[in-house]
Amino acid sequence: VAIEKGHFRHFMQKEIFEQPTVVAQTLRSYLRQVDQSLALPQVDFDLSRINRITIVACGTSFYAGMVAKYWIEAFARLPVDIDVASEFRYRNPVLEPGGLALFISQSGETADTLAALRHCKAAGQTIAVVVNVPTSTMAREADLLLPTHAGPEVGVASTKAFTCQLAVLAALAAHLAVKRGRMDREEEMEVVQHLLEVPASLNAALEHDEEIAAMAHHIAQARDVLYLGRGPDYPLALEGALKLKEISYIHAEGYASGEMKHGPIALIDEDVPVIVLAPSGPLFEKTVSNMHEVRARGGKVILISDAEGIAEAGEGCIATIEMSQVHPLIAPLVYAVPVQLLAYHVACLKGTDVDQPRNLAKSVTVE
Ligand code: G6P
Repeated sequence: VAIEKGHFRHFMQKEIFEQPTVVAQTLRSYLRQVDQSLALPQVDFDLSRINRITIVACGTSFYAGMVAKYWIEAFARLPVDIDVASEFRYRNPVLEPGGLALFISQSGETADTLAALRHCKAAGQTIAVVVNVPTSTMAREADLLLPTHAGPEVGVASTKAFTCQLAVLAALAAHLAVKRGRMDREEEMEVVQHLLEVPASLNAALEHDEEIAAMAHHIAQARDVLYLGRGPDYPLALEGALKLKEISYIHAEGYASGEMKHGPIALIDEDVPVIVLAPSGPLFEKTVSNMHEVRARGGKVILISDAEGIAEAGEGCIATIEMSQVHPLIAPLVYAVPVQLLAYHVACLKGTDVDQPRNLAKSVTVE
């Protein structure tokens, strides 16, 4: 079946706008709305006995995995090791009995990730796979198959697959917490409630499209751009930088806000825009103090936060994007939208081939 762009200019744009629908669709197979409970696929092994999780992926899927590490450790109190597949394979990782190896992939065919999966299988790990293509090789080789229902993703730069991966991973983290007795029924209902709110929050985030298009010129002229975030929003800073690199060809780096003083702060001047991802919450003050360090050096900041955060720290920024107030748990899902839109509009301004960026492939099936 031919997939159409409809009234959208690019597939990537269409896929960004599909997110409320496909995330809702994905969540439907992991949550039960009637009793607000988690509903993960049945497995014939005991998840409560897993003693360690090893996450392996590439590209955008790897960043989804990084967010999952924060979630799994925080909720389920399970140690999580994570690596990009190309490194993992060759570093002779320690894989002890009782480990769950978790692979994340849109295509289910990425050569490095698949090789890592087979390596883990041979080493006796239980294999879980979060994958968007249900007929893919990785899907077939999984012990625990966790499909995302993003539908076919055509744009080379991944967008909707990423947020769907996050939705599944949040449900998995909470499920592991329940299995391990770290989350009671009331907390489970709360998490489910927050997840059920995600599609509406994604819709609200998409309403900033025009506003973000109007600020793209701040970035389009830049040679280098920095993205900062903390905690589960740090991987999102990495993802934001990756999106910008992929489709606009502007050099961008994502950094953990607190690590900026150990290097990248030397780059800051009025020509380096800095995108700060800072939902209000426990880490907000810390991130904002890093943002002040940027501003004190003449850095131009675009702050992505909520009403509370912008009221407190928005002054002096060249632009702000106001997200709805969301629980810190779901912030990485919702904040994905403005970083995707920003990269998209910058690429449009630069006139690049958004859906087929140079040198990149949708699925890398060679090593
Ligand atoms: C390629 C794509 C990326 C994707 C990565 C991993 O580099 O261009 O968008 O994130 O592969 O792909 P996978 O299908 O394993 O998620």
